[in-house]
Amino acid sequence: MTDISANLVLGDKKVDLPVKSGSIGPDVIDIGALYKNTGTFTYDPGFTSTASCESKITYIDGDNGILLHRGYPIEQLAEHGDFLETCYLLLYGELPSAAQKKDFDHRVTMHTMVHEQMSRFFTGFRRDAHPMAVMCGCVGALSAFYHDSTDITDPHQRMVASLRMIAKMPTLAAMAYKYHIGQPFVYPQNDLDYASNFLRMCFAVPCEEYKVNPVLSRAMDRIFILHADHEQNASTSTVRLAGSSGANPFACIAAGIACLWGPAHGGANEAALNMLTEIGTVDRIPEYIARAKDKNDPFRLMGFGHRVYKNYDPRAKIMQKTTHEVLGELGHKDDPLLQVAMELERIALTDEYFIEKKLYPNIDFYSGITLKAMGFPTTMFTVLFALARTVGWIAQWAEMIEDPQQRIGRPRQLYTGEPQRDYVPVSKR
Ligand code: CMC
Repeated sequence: MTDISANLVLGDKKVDLPVKSGSIGPDVIDIGALYKNTGTFTYDPGFTSTASCESKITYIDGDNGILLHRGYPIEQLAEHGDFLETCYLLLYGELPSAAQKKDFDHRVTMHTMVHEQMSRFFTGFRRDAHPMAVMCGCVGALSAFYHDSTDITDPHQRMVASLRMIAKMPTLAAMAYKYHIGQPFVYPQNDLDYASNFLRMCFAVPCEEYKVNPVLSRAMDRIFILHADHEQNASTSTVRLAGSSGANPFACIAAGIACLWGPAHGGANEAALNMLTEIGTVDRIPEYIARAKDKNDPFRLMGFGHRVYKNYDPRAKIMQKTTHEVLGELGHKDDPLLQVAMELERIALTDEYFIEKKLYPNIDFYSGITLKAMGFPTTMFTVLFALARTVGWIAQWAEMIEDPQQRIGRPRQLYTGEPQRDYVPVSKR
C-alpha cells in the first residue's frame, strides 16, 4: 500500500481509493470497495487497465521489451538455463541448486508415461482432427485417470498433479502428432532430456534407430523456455478463472488449452506461417502490407503486434536467432519463407503505420518457420506452445490456490438489454 490514494468524485459522493504498489511496474488503484461505497462498477472490456490479481511469478515491461521470470531476464534463462530449470523457477520461485535440479528432473521424468488406456482416447478422434482439439479432450481426460492428484486442498496432490502435467504434456502432444500422421505411438525414453525425449517421441519410428540432433534439441528446449509463462494473458487468466471455482487442475489446464487455440493468442504461430506461405515471394509483400493497413480489410499481419509489448518482443529476438541456428543446421538457409519473413519484418519496422501503432514482431513470427524446418506440421505449432505454457499455467494456478485472499472470480457487467417486461403468450406475439 502507498501513502497516496485516488480520489473519485461521483456526483455528490466522494471516495478515497487506496493505491497499491508492486515491486516494479505501475501502481494499481484498489477498487474492491467501490461497489459497496458507490453502487457503481468499473468498465474495462479486454482488461486494458485492469490488474486481475497479485502475482510474484512473471513481470513484463511492454514499453521497454522486458520479460522477467521471478526477476530473471528471459534472455539469460534462454541462454544459460534449460526448460526444466525454468519450470522449477516458475513453480518454486528460486533457481534450483544442482541437487535440487537433479531431484526435480527425476521427479518430472518418472511421470512421462501416460496411462495405457489413454491411447484409446486418441483412437476415438478422426485422424484429420486438429491436434489442438485432441489435446483439449485428452488433457481434460487426465482428471479421469489420476484421481489421486485432484484434491486441490492437499499441497502434495497439487504438486503431483503439476509434475504429472509437465511430464505428460510432451507424451500427449507427440501422441496427438503420431495419431494424426498414422504412425505408432512412441513411448518416452527417460534417459533422454526433456526436449530430446519429445523429439524422439515425435520423429522416431519402430523400424529405424533415431538419433537426436543436439542443435535441434537445444532449439526445442529454448522454444519451450520462451513460451513457459507470460503473466496474465488470455489463457492464463482462463486457467485462473476456471481454477477459482475449485475445479481440478487437469480440467483447468484443458480450459487454458482451449483459450490458447485462438488465432489472436497461441494460434498465431500457425496463422503466421500460413500467411508467410500465402505471401510466398518477397515481391508480393507490399500487397499484404497494404491490406494490413486497410481499415476495410480484416487482414492483419500475423505475428505482429501485442497487447502488452509496444516494443520488440524480447522472445522474438531470441527466436529469430534460434531460427537461423536451426535453418543453418538443416541447410535451409535459403528457405523462401525465411526470406519473406526477414523482408516483411524489415519493411514493417520502417513503415509509418507499424511505427505509429508500435507493432513489432512477436514470438509467433519466427517460431513457425523454425518448427516447420524441424519437421512439425503447422497444426502442431499451437500444441507445442500449449506444452511449454503448461508450467506457467500451473504455477499461476498454484499461486492462486495458495493465496489466502482467493475467491471465485466473478466479473460484473454493464447491462444494456431489455429492462424487466412481462411475458407475452405465444398467441399474442
Ligand atoms: N496487423 C495490422 N494492424 C494491426 C495488427 C496487425 N498484426 N495488430 C494490431 N493492429 C492495429 C489494429 O488494427 C489497431 O488499429 P486502430 O487503432 O487503427 O484500430 C491497432 O493496431 C491496435 O490493435 P488492437 O487490436 O486494438 O490491439 P490489441 O492489443 O487488442 O491486440 C493482438 C493485440 C496481438 C491481438 C493484435 O496485435 C493482433 O491481432 N496481432 C496478430 C495476431 C498475433 O500475432 N497474435 C500473437 C500475439 S503474441 C503470442 C501470444 O501472446 O499469444
